[in-house]
Formats: sequence, C-alpha cells, structure tokens
Amino acid sequence: MGTDLFDLSGRVAVVTGGGTGLGKGMAAGLAQAGALVIVASRRQDVVDQAAEEIRASGGKAVGMALDVTRTKELPAFFETVVKRHGGLDILVNSAGTNRRLPALDYTEEDWDTVLDLNLKSLFFCCQAAARILKGRGGGKIINVASLASASTFPNQAAYAPSKAGVKQATMLMAMEWAPFRINVNAIGPGWFRTPLNDVLFQDEPWARGVTAMIPWGRTGTPEDLMGAVIFLVIYVDGGLLAGHRALRLPKEMP
Ligand SMILES: NC(=O)c1ccc[n+]([C@@H]2O[C@H](COP(=O)([O-])OP(=O)(O)OC[C@H]3O[C@@H](n4cnc5c(N)ncnc54)[C@H](OP(=O)(O)O)[C@@H]3O)[C@@H](O)[C@H]2O)c1
Repeated sequence: MGTDLFDLSGRVAVVTGGGTGLGKGMAAGLAQAGALVIVASRRQDVVDQAAEEIRASGGKAVGMALDVTRTKELPAFFETVVKRHGGLDILVNSAGTNRRLPALDYTEEDWDTVLDLNLKSLFFCCQAAARILKGRGGGKIINVASLASASTFPNQAAYAPSKAGVKQATMLMAMEWAPFRINVNAIGPGWFRTPLNDVLFQDEPWARGVTAMIPWGRTGTPEDLMGAVIFLVIYVDGGLLAGHRALRLPKEMP
C-alpha cells in the first residue's frame, strides 16, 4: 500500500451540485486528495468557476453542465465523463433543494420539485454511475443525506421525506451493489450556512438559536466535510484500480 493513506491520484470523481455549498467543499477536498473532479450542476458559469478555483489551488477539475432531473440524459453524461477523462471512480450526489412551507400549504408542484431532485434524480444518478462502475470492478458513491433523514424540523414537509428516502435508498443500493464492489454511503450534515439556507441564517436570532443547539458551539462550513468524503471514497488497493481501468472481477467472486 502507498505511504499516503488518503491519496486519490488517478481517480475520476463526479460531484453533482459541486459548484456551491457543501458540494463545492467536497469537490475541493477530493481534488486536494488528488482526484480529477468533474464539477456538475445546471449553471455552466458556476461549475466553471468552482473548477477554476480548484485548478488555481493546484488541483484537477473541470466543470460540466448537468441537470440531474433530466434522468434520461444521465447515462450519456456518465459515458461522456468516461470517454473524456478515462474513467469514473467516485460519485458524490450533493444536488438538492428545499421548499420551506407549512405542510398545509404544500402544493403538488412543491412536493414534486423537492422529491424529483432530492430522491428520484439522486437514485437515477446512482444507477447510471453504478452501471459503469460495475463494469469497471467497483467504485464509491456518496449521497448527501441530512439530519432530516432521521428527524424532522418544521416546514420540511417534502424535504424530510426526501432525505429519509435518501437514507433508505442508500442502504438498499449499498446492499445490492456490494457484490460489484461498489460502496454506497451517505453523509448526514447538520446545519451549514450555504445558498440553500442562507435566508434562514440572515435571521440572526434564528442563527443564534441553531448554534446554541449544537454542542460543538458552531454551525458547519463546507470544508468540514472534506475529511469525511475522502475517508468514504478511499480505496485500500495500492492504486490498482487507478492503473487497471478495465479490471473485471473473476467470475467466481460473489
Ligand atoms: N446546508 C445544510 O445545512 C445542509 C444540511 C444537510 C444536507 N444538506 C444537503 O446538502 C446538499 C447541498 O446543499 P447545499 O446546502 O450545499 O446548498 P446549495 O449550495 O444550494 O447546493 C445545491 C446545489 O444543487 C445544484 N442543483 C440544483 N438543482 C440541480 C439540478 N436539477 N441538477 C443539477 N444540480 C442541481 C445547485 O446548482 P445549480 O443551481 O447550478 O444547478 C447547487 O450547486 C443538498 O442535498 C442539501 O439537501 C445541506
């Protein structure tokens, strides 16, 4: 095994929602560990800027426009990544949204918007990536869950069910794809100030109240997730997968 325990050199990682917030922090962490990071979301200028920042810090990154709700286009997106960048090893699903309304005021459109992005698109991203990873001998998938996967807060009528679904879908995929050497995990961030919830943090009494609930005494920053994501995507293989892109498991392996 190599001397650098957390070296991701030679790995190709896709981070959806990687241009902002938590995804941006995780993309930077993966790049810092040596991976080539494909920063993907709808806004080309945002992903290009995030990729540029990674390159300016000495990492490898490119931006690619991607709307994960266009699920039929996802297989072609991942095939393009493989063709352009020589592989696919890691997927981080950080694209997500929320509609903060009392449950009594929720419309079907609100519900569909949140569930389509947070759960349905996440599943089909995982599926499209896993079909490729299976043929390559394995890989790593990280889904961004939430405290709302396990508990609930007011005005999260669709968000909480979507994130509970992320937790369950992650467990299901982890179980079904383990024989293909695909690790599927979820990270459950607490409260982080990002574009998703900046409007809440602008309310200073609210922000103080949230901070007071956290024993650590502060809310998170995207950089706090770097270690967790690197830990979960690490291969303990001495770089074998990085050098043998077409590795197949022997037929007799489960
Ligand atoms: N902030 C927190 O405290 C917290 C806590 C727990 C979990 N989370 C989760 O963390 C993840 C990231 O959220 P964040 O807090 O970092 O907020 P954010 O900065 O708003 O990130 C959301 C990202 O999703 C992308 N996105 C939205 N729709 C998309 C689509 N259809 N296709 C592709 N990308 C899309 C956005 O980029 P474009 O607009 O360019 O598409 C954006 O980069 C979410 O899943 C969220 O639920 C956040």
